[in-house]
Amino acid sequence: MKTIVTGGAGFIGGNFMHFAVNNYPDEEWICLDKLTYAGNLETLEPLEGKKNYRFIKGDIADRTFIFDLFRKEKPDRVINFAAESHVDRSLKDPELFLRTNVLGTVCLMDACREFGIERFHQVSTDEVYGDLPIERTDLFFNEENPIKTSSPYSSSKGSADLFVLAYHRTFGLPVSISRCSNNYGPYHFPEKLIPLVISRALADESIPVYGKGENVRDWLYVEDHARAIDMIFHNGKIAETYNIGGFNEWKNIDIIKVVINTVDRLLGRKEGEDMNLITYVTDRKGHDMRYAIDSTKLQKELGWEPSLQFEEGIEKTVRWYLDNHEWLDNVTSGDYLKYYEKMYSNR
Ligand code: NAD
Ligand code: TYD
Repeated sequence: MKTIVTGGAGFIGGNFMHFAVNNYPDEEWICLDKLTYAGNLETLEPLEGKKNYRFIKGDIADRTFIFDLFRKEKPDRVINFAAESHVDRSLKDPELFLRTNVLGTVCLMDACREFGIERFHQVSTDEVYGDLPIERTDLFFNEENPIKTSSPYSSSKGSADLFVLAYHRTFGLPVSISRCSNNYGPYHFPEKLIPLVISRALADESIPVYGKGENVRDWLYVEDHARAIDMIFHNGKIAETYNIGGFNEWKNIDIIKVVINTVDRLLGRKEGEDMNLITYVTDRKGHDMRYAIDSTKLQKELGWEPSLQFEEGIEKTVRWYLDNHEWLDNVTSGDYLKYYEKMYSNR
């Protein structure tokens, strides 16, 4: 059994690669990644040398490359994590999001049609449902909610989902989709909220809070996301969409305080010592107010549930960044971009 995992050098794809390569030693796992600024081969370093793991550098939107690759490798399955994933960047360069997230997904599915596939799994996001009002805490997104996006990022992900469903209906491609809430955990690029707070608190630098910090996100530990994808990919029904989320909503400002306190405690500083770093800045344009995901279908149909309490997950995450300061230092300085040259230039 051979699976191509696109975007496996990124945050969630990387954590999934660790999970899959270690849990399925008799299956072949190929990571296909373009190594954009967000892709980091150091994340996959612990897998180097394993018999069931390979890395291939390439662009999911490069049709000639993708068709040649599928012709040669004939994968049984594809899991598509590859994407431009940061909302703030999508406000600056929407077209890049259209290219990678929409055209890239379509290109992969065309190759799957041409060469045959058992399963194409699309890793999507809860952001495709748009946002909910803060005061309506009774409302959650389930799989029946329509796609109603806000940012160029979420619009590109929602468009890709529509293409995935169309490729099933029109061409009979065996697809599935998962839509997860915000993830946190090891190997997270420090442009996203939680690793940004950790890295800036460690460096004693100001921590930017957009608007009033009242926006709400629903946080899930990344390994729980990886396990959910594994379950859906193996046992989820074809053409179905599954929401993934841990019913764990936090206001941004509250989560920032929890992270700062955890950093202070683990560094032996007085808890709260770094609260003065909090700096309110201009709000993000079109900023979604609240995400809240209902994952009952996944829990009932496939028996998934989150394994970690949030406080435990945050402590584990901060500890990981402290124990792996080299990974963070390299990412922050940009040195990780030289790693591919070092590791692969003579191969
Ligand atoms: P990430 O930005 O950390 O990683 C994306 C990876 O894709 C990188 O390794 C990058 O090099 C690669 N990539 C980008 N363009 C490519 C291309 N054209 N060809 C091949 N590879 C390319 O993202 P992430 O946070 O790990 O997110 C992974 C997936 O999960 C995305 O599809 C995202 O929409 C989705 N998602 C993310 C979250 C979250 O909280 N981060 C939540 C729900 C869903
Ligand atoms: P982010 O991690 O970018 O994820 P998303 O926008 O996809 O949910 O941001 C999480 C929340 O934190 C979001 O409401 C924006 C906010 N935020 C800040 O307040 N300051 C920051 O520096 C960043 C990156 C995000």
